[in-house]
Amino acid sequence: MSALDEAADVEALDDWRISYLGRRGELTQILRGLGSLPAEERPAAGAAANALRRTLEEAMSSREDALKRAAAESDPVDAIDVTLPGWPVPRGGIHPTTRIVREICAAFASMGFSVVEGPEIEWDHYNFEMLNIPKDHPARDMWDTLWIDYEDENGERPMLLRTHTSPMQARTMEATDPPVRVVVPGKCYRYEATDPRHEWHFYQIEGLAVDRGITMTDLKGTLYEFARRVFGVDRKVRFRCDYFPFVEPGVDMSIDCFLCDGGCRVCSDTGWIEIMGAGMVHPKVLAGVGYDPNIYTGFAFGMGPERISMLKHGIEDIRLFYSNDLRFLRQFS
Ligand code: DAH
Repeated sequence: MSALDEAADVEALDDWRISYLGRRGELTQILRGLGSLPAEERPAAGAAANALRRTLEEAMSSREDALKRAAAESDPVDAIDVTLPGWPVPRGGIHPTTRIVREICAAFASMGFSVVEGPEIEWDHYNFEMLNIPKDHPARDMWDTLWIDYEDENGERPMLLRTHTSPMQARTMEATDPPVRVVVPGKCYRYEATDPRHEWHFYQIEGLAVDRGITMTDLKGTLYEFARRVFGVDRKVRFRCDYFPFVEPGVDMSIDCFLCDGGCRVCSDTGWIEIMGAGMVHPKVLAGVGYDPNIYTGFAFGMGPERISMLKHGIEDIRLFYSNDLRFLRQFS
C-alpha cells in the first residue's frame, strides 16, 4: 500500500501493478504456492490471499482515478471551463389548440357559461335524430360521417364518431332542467379529404343557453361580446341567414376583417370573415328532450377553434395543428 501511495503517475502505477499483481508478481507467486501447503491450511490461506488481491485491486483503481483527475486539473486543455454556456434545457409548451380552446371557454365562462364535455363515439340518435336530422334526410350530407363498424339487431349501424359537438345540446338538456348555459369543447371527426382548410379531425366548441324569454337579441349580444374579447374591442359583427336543422332561424356570424381595409386573401376581398354557425334552438329539439317550447327558448352556436386560431395568428394550413412539426408548435410555447 505504501508503494502504491508513492506511485506518482500512470507509468509508476503500471510498474506497481506488474510487481504485485502481474503474472510474476508477489501476490501471484503466493497464490501459486498454495498447492504446496498442507491440505487443511489451504482454504484459509486461499481466502486470505483472494481478499488481499481484491483490496489491492480496489486501492489501485482509486489511485488511478485520483491520478487521472489530478492530471486533468493541471492540464488547461482538459480542465472544465466554467465560463462555457450550459446546454439549453428543452421546454415543453401548451398545444396551440389547447390554448385557443381555453381562451374561448374562459371568455364564455366569464359570461356565466359552464364548461362540459361529451363522448367522441356517439349514437346516431344524439348526433342526428335528436337534432332534427332524421334518417335519409338530405341535411345529413352536411356532415360526412365516419361510422363505427358495429351493427345492431336490425342490421343498422347506430354508432359513429361525432361529426360535431351539437349532440351535447340534447345530452345536456336531457340531464338538466332549464335554465341551461354551457359551452362544450371537444374533438370531432369527418370523412373528409384534407386540405389547408379541412382536417378529418378537429375541435369544435358548442354553446347552448336555454331559459324563459331568451331571444335572438341575447344570441347577438353574447356572441358580439365573445368576438370583442377574442378578436379585440374594435370588432364589428354581421349575422346572415343560414340553415342548420336544429335551429330556426339559423345564422352564420362573421367579424369584420381585422387584417385589411376592404380586401385581402383571408377575407376573400369581402371584408368579412365567417367564424361560426348559430341560431335559436328549434322547437322540435326542445320538445325532444322534454322542454316545453311554449315556455322555454334558447340559442345555440358552434365554432371551430383551430379556424379561430388561424385567423388570430395568421396560420395558413389547419393540418399544421396535428402534424407535430416542432418548428410550428414552438411558435406557441
Ligand atoms: N354543428 C354545426 C356544424 O358542425 C355548427 C353549428 C351551427 C352549431 C349552428 C350550432 C348552431 O349550435 O346553432 O356545422
